Amino acid sequence: MARQQSRYICQACGAAHLRWEGQCRTCGAWNTLVETLVREPDHKGRTAGAGTGPGAGQVPQSLAGLREAEPVRTPTGISELDRVLGGGLVPGSVVLLGGEPGIGKSTLLLQAAAGLTATAGEVLYASGEESAGQVRLRAGRLGLLDGTVGERIRVVAENEVGRITALTREGRPGVLVVDSIQSVTVDELEGPAGSVGQVRESALRLMELAKGDGIAVIVVGHVTKDGSLAGPKTLEHLVDVVLSLDGERTATLRLLRATKNRFGSTEEVGVFEMAERGLAEVADPGRAFLAGADEHAPGSVVGATLEGTRPLLVEVQGLVAPGAYGSPRRTASGIDTNRLALLIAVLGRRAGVGLGSHDVYANLAGGLDLADPGLDLPLALALTSSLRDKPVAPDLIAIGEVGLLGELRPVPGLERRLREAARLGFKKAIVPKSRRGDVPEVKGMEVVAVSNLREAIVHALASNPG
Ligand code: TYD
Ligand code: MG
Repeated sequence: MARQQSRYICQACGAAHLRWEGQCRTCGAWNTLVETLVREPDHKGRTAGAGTGPGAGQVPQSLAGLREAEPVRTPTGISELDRVLGGGLVPGSVVLLGGEPGIGKSTLLLQAAAGLTATAGEVLYASGEESAGQVRLRAGRLGLLDGTVGERIRVVAENEVGRITALTREGRPGVLVVDSIQSVTVDELEGPAGSVGQVRESALRLMELAKGDGIAVIVVGHVTKDGSLAGPKTLEHLVDVVLSLDGERTATLRLLRATKNRFGSTEEVGVFEMAERGLAEVADPGRAFLAGADEHAPGSVVGATLEGTRPLLVEVQGLVAPGAYGSPRRTASGIDTNRLALLIAVLGRRAGVGLGSHDVYANLAGGLDLADPGLDLPLALALTSSLRDKPVAPDLIAIGEVGLLGELRPVPGLERRLREAARLGFKKAIVPKSRRGDVPEVKGMEVVAVSNLREAIVHALASNPG
């Protein structure tokens, strides 16, 4: 077979070049050339305009006349993963699992592969990053070598996509895992593994395999904290499901979210804990993110957030210390630094809590990273508590967004958050006053609705003798 040719196509104007260059000579744009395979148009048996999409060659039908297509789902045996997938893996679909290097993607997929051997038959694990021996070593650590599981997961250390797809068509596994998309290449392109052209073409071939042969394909993509490694982001629109595994590498908790899901909701979140033997499910994550100190120190306030439909309680920590020289430090982990700066300003101007010359540190326990404005109030209270060196009551939680005038704004799902807190033994809650002035009733919990930060501080800190 004649070797297919690749061209460098400008992503801005579409001009084709023979060699990579930093600037497109046609339109002048910089860094827009991506290596692409030139496909010979296939004229046989295809009418003009038939296309290659999922409905290629079909005539339009009325919406009401269409058959309902409820996808079949294959459970992975990991219920937190199934929950995020929307019930299980759909045959013929392509799932992209993104996350930072070392966060636990390979671990999760090897565990899922083990579960899938019970429901989907054989699983082919194509590893482009680790040798087969290394995969075996991990499987041993995860306790997956025994019995049928060890037999039914096939491992191949291969990074050429053509051979991976050929092996898949030959062995006909139910599921193919490719770890990772940045480590595989197609022979016809000359760019290095991980370049946009290679990543895109590899993904296209894996999609063809999935759609054509009805095999579910799970692809790993490494993503860096500040956005992406160019590659995986460009795949998000192609694949059916995009999952991301997040967490602090130094902490043990991991959150699995779906940022896109053609077969389910993107509201669900799965919670795992990295343990000795791989990722363990945290089925009741309500209190997973509480630091759990016995004594309640000043500077710690518990908030309640919503991850999708799941309420989670998180401990918000603040530390305030007199600043030395120059501009004071503001350091936040898990919280947006701009949000922290804003709260410091509002505390100073609207609540009489002057932190202007102090060093301020803020942190969410458990390595969470959240953008929920409902955590404003617990953070503001934590900073105040640290400044005054006065702890809040250990059974108190606070929920609310803080506005620029120091006013408290309602947050969505307040009752759901409060019920979870009550279930976990919290007795008192400080919440924003609703527009209608009604206070949610939660069994076993005293709910105090306040309209501004100043009142909230009085309730949280004055009522406590500590
Ligand atoms: P890994 O799955 O290799 O990450 P990724 O594929 O996302 O790059 O996970 C690597 C980390 O997980 C590594 O630092 C060790 C840790 N780990 C455990 O703590 N327990 C285990 O049982 C395993 C397999 C890994
Ligand atoms: Mg890995």
